[in-house]
Amino acid sequence: MGSTLTGSPISNVKMSSEEMIDICKKHTLYTWSATDQVSPLPVERAEGVYLYTPDGKRILDFNSQLMSVLIGHGHPRVIQAMKDQLDQLIFVYPQTATAARARLAKLMHEVVPGMESFFFTLGGAESNENAIRMARLFTGRQKILSRYRAYHGGTNLTLQLTGDPRRWSAEPGSPGIIRVMDPQPYTYSFGSTPEEKAEQNLIYLEEMIQYEGPNNIAAMIVETVTGTNGLLVPPANWFQGLRKLLTKYGILLICDEVMAGMGRTGKMMAYEHFGIIPDMVTMAKGLTSSYFPLGAVGVNPAISDYFHKNNYPGGLTYNSHPVGMATAEAVIRVMMEEGMIENAAKMGKVMRSEMDRLQAKHPSFGDGRCIGLFGMVDVRKNSKGDLIAPYNGSHPAMTKLTAFFRDNGLFTFVRWANFTCNPPICITEAQLKEGFEIIDRGLDITDEAFEG
Ligand SMILES: Cc1ncc(COP(=O)(O)O)c(C=O)c1O
Repeated sequence: MGSTLTGSPISNVKMSSEEMIDICKKHTLYTWSATDQVSPLPVERAEGVYLYTPDGKRILDFNSQLMSVLIGHGHPRVIQAMKDQLDQLIFVYPQTATAARARLAKLMHEVVPGMESFFFTLGGAESNENAIRMARLFTGRQKILSRYRAYHGGTNLTLQLTGDPRRWSAEPGSPGIIRVMDPQPYTYSFGSTPEEKAEQNLIYLEEMIQYEGPNNIAAMIVETVTGTNGLLVPPANWFQGLRKLLTKYGILLICDEVMAGMGRTGKMMAYEHFGIIPDMVTMAKGLTSSYFPLGAVGVNPAISDYFHKNNYPGGLTYNSHPVGMATAEAVIRVMMEEGMIENAAKMGKVMRSEMDRLQAKHPSFGDGRCIGLFGMVDVRKNSKGDLIAPYNGSHPAMTKLTAFFRDNGLFTFVRWANFTCNPPICITEAQLKEGFEIIDRGLDITDEAFEG
């Protein structure tokens, strides 16, 4: 014993910003970075679209943390549902049946179009790992198609599915992953109109499928709307063509909606924008709005039927964790009952007009893309439209922009030549404009680096 904390409530230990930062940096290791180079943001509490530091500074969360706190921070109805579940039943092992699991499964079957049943995990990477295993078992094939402009998770297999530079340090990885180009890569063009891009990309894809041997390919995994790799909304009709192409060769379509799903784009699932139903969908982040770690793989009736009759050789201790189940149910109900998905669609229009306003005003504003409240801005360095920083590169003006956002109370991600605009989908018009007002002032910095 001997601890001064004995008998006191564990969570009420008050710490200054400096103390938090010192201990976190000394005794924990940070993700995707050298810990000594990280400047962690000290956060004491969060409510709605705002974070608060221990010194009482208010910060607008313009990225929903990791594009994941969709309903906003600290929603009382979800917290109550979590507390009720804690009081009733915290944990039982996966081979049980619980009311929380049954309620969530029934609700998800209703709101996730085309999916018959769900396999629960603890996050996005685990969902993709399991989706790939299911696809291989169901089809009896091994190879997987994925895309360069994609992120699918930080485990060994999902880093191989990932196209972006986060994959490089994990190479060479497991064989059998074939990466292909997106319909609209940054510097190569499949055509000038959306129709042409869709058509040409599908011709290229079919040729790739022939080279790999169609009978060897189990599935293609795509982010329905590409997230961190550029906020790329596929051109019109591309998805319908892709769906037809994959069906022709018996290749499964897996939509990774870890980031794009759960209301972010103004529809519950992003694939609803494109008039297609994938064979499987993976989810996480917004599924519980990050109030609890949870992911899911949704499968169509044929795959569901297969694993009702055949062994699924996979599992995890916290599969269908009752607290995760109760949290997800509460989050989905709150989202639907409080009109947040409609709000994402409506505020997406405000985001579009704010982006257009800033594009007209700032020469360094390159391109602004958004669907619902899923948005990104590219910063350019000249009127030819060249990006201020190359792929995987940086520019001093972008470093200054990062510091400006932080000093001026805006939390978002600045990477390479872009920054993200992904606030919680409960955001009001006034709060959204408050974010763009800070961005407006920040772009004066990148305008100074504009070469004309
Ligand atoms: C599209 C996509 N897939 C998968 C993942 C991995 O999810 P997790 O970090 O929960 O494992 C992410 C995380 O950012 C993602 O954006």
